[in-house]
Amino acid sequence: MIRTALTELLGIRYPVVQAAMGYVSGPRLAAAVSDAGGLGLIASATMSLAELEKAIEETAGQTAGPFGVNLRADAPDAAERVRLIVARRVPVASFAQAPKPELIAALKDAGVVTIASIGTRRHAEKAAGWGIDAVIATGGEGGGHVGAVPTSLLVPQVAAAVDVPVIAAGGFFDGRGLVAALAWGAAGIAMGTRFLLTSDSPVGDEVKRLYLEAGLDGTVVTRRVDGVPHRILRTTMVDHLMSGGRAGALVRSARNAVAFRGVSGMGWREMLRQGRALHRGTGHRSTGRHESGLSWGQVLMAANTPVLLRAAMVDGRTDLGLMSSGQVAGLIDDLPSCAELIEAIMAEAGATLDRLRLARRP
Ligand SMILES: Cc1cc2nc3c(=O)[nH]c(=O)nc-3n(C[C@H](O)[C@H](O)[C@H](O)COP(=O)(O)O)c2cc1C
Repeated sequence: MIRTALTELLGIRYPVVQAAMGYVSGPRLAAAVSDAGGLGLIASATMSLAELEKAIEETAGQTAGPFGVNLRADAPDAAERVRLIVARRVPVASFAQAPKPELIAALKDAGVVTIASIGTRRHAEKAAGWGIDAVIATGGEGGGHVGAVPTSLLVPQVAAAVDVPVIAAGGFFDGRGLVAALAWGAAGIAMGTRFLLTSDSPVGDEVKRLYLEAGLDGTVVTRRVDGVPHRILRTTMVDHLMSGGRAGALVRSARNAVAFRGVSGMGWREMLRQGRALHRGTGHRSTGRHESGLSWGQVLMAANTPVLLRAAMVDGRTDLGLMSSGQVAGLIDDLPSCAELIEAIMAEAGATLDRLRLARRP
């Protein structure tokens, strides 16, 4: 047993969290992790409110262990999502990006444990100042949207800066990594890619095969997907998108998509709806511009991002879709169940601690 401030805070057996993954960490994966003694997180940014309600119900029906919901504080219906989390007595809420003080307060008042994902010390300090209960510090080797600081530097820095438990993320896959994270001052680890590559994960076999085949150089970080650094699996399609051409030009235009979102105040869902409408040719004029002043190409690519992620993760279209991935995919070559994985990590962490203790003997 390894007891930490995190196992105490969350009431979980093991200091292992499943990081939120859009279209991947739904009820099946989250419940499998929570049932195995870790903390499963439902990724809700890619769900409607009604879908989230159903997902919470399903997860609660599949595990007696605590689980959480990951949400975006800037979602137009964030307050409604918080009310749902409270009403359904979900034990934990985690914020995908910057949290908001009023949402943290509403959750904490209702007894919900709050966690924020951060990529810099400054953001960790800010969230801690707002009363967050724990932070997930994700280093640059992680999958999906990432910062530039590697895990080995970010975690010790953040752990020294804040008093709340720090959960280390980005590149973890085994028990040695858990011990390393504890040595850096963290209270546990969160893993995305490693949990995607389990038999409990809902993504298709062909998608899992591509991840398993990837080497340590099998991912790239690009801003060309949606304007912010995003680590994805390097596929033929990604090489093509990055190397120019017509599709490449469209992707390049997406660099401003995030700015567009800021300017327009439009949520991803609305952008998605517009993107679909554009696809159908309604309202699209190649020379036209959206009222924000940005080109329709920019709008279209941003709107397409969820579609492209979904194409791979839900529909199994590895030829068309984008696959967020941590560099750690290059070190993973099996598909255990979540229970097998967590047990193996804890056994290896115990053995590693014993090895280190033995090494200290004169
Ligand atoms: C397939 C995939 C999808 C992801 N989707 C999301 C998401 O929807 N929201 C989010 O905050 N982070 C997302 N992430 C990032 C993870 O929450 C986490 O930060 C990352 O996986 C940690 O690095 P690791 O993959 O090396 O374990 C995703 C990561 C992956 C691999």
